[in-house]
Amino acid sequence: MKHLTVVEHPLVQHKLTLMREKDTSTASFRKLLREISLLLAYEVTRELPVTTKQIETPLCAMEAPTIEGKKLALVSILRAGNGLLDGILELIPAARVGFVGLYRDEETLEPVQYYFKVPKNLEDRTVIAVDPMLATGNSSVAAIDLLKQAGAKNIIFLCLLASPEGVKRMEEAHPDVPIITASLDEKLNEKGYIVPGLGDAGDRMFGTK
Ligand code: URA
Repeated sequence: MKHLTVVEHPLVQHKLTLMREKDTSTASFRKLLREISLLLAYEVTRELPVTTKQIETPLCAMEAPTIEGKKLALVSILRAGNGLLDGILELIPAARVGFVGLYRDEETLEPVQYYFKVPKNLEDRTVIAVDPMLATGNSSVAAIDLLKQAGAKNIIFLCLLASPEGVKRMEEAHPDVPIITASLDEKLNEKGYIVPGLGDAGDRMFGTK
């Protein structure tokens, strides 16, 4: 898989535009995020290994394709990751789910872990880490570090928007982790927001400020 894939599907781009608009309501934002996450889930699972199994249709026996290996692990990077997670789980209901919670230390500006719970046998699963915004890349890199420490070997990072700075940081720290995003935006501003972006993803999906 390429290191960076931008999903340029017209439906994804159309929904993303609606999400970016500042007057889009919390309810619409949430609904659009769910819809877009289904489309991104289709893309992120495109290269999963497939095997076959013997089944019987009402007409005959056949060797039919089925996804190989252990159930996928979806890992939400809290809290905004949960918005992407919900939609993906609708499409992959048997996936195992983990959570990584990180906050930024006000003094060192480094991400600090406050929660970490992931499925067993991570080393045998494809792990899809989800966070809508790849901004500075600090929390994404730290979350992937933790997943690798927990044994994950095959990780894909899924986000809605990425900044060039975040992509570069991920590429340097985790060149083996492909990134799938709906848009590579222009830049980060001085406060670490993605520009043009969509604002604070967590605030917009949960209606907080
Ligand atoms: N996190 C967000 O929610 N928005 C940004 O623009 C950057 C980080």
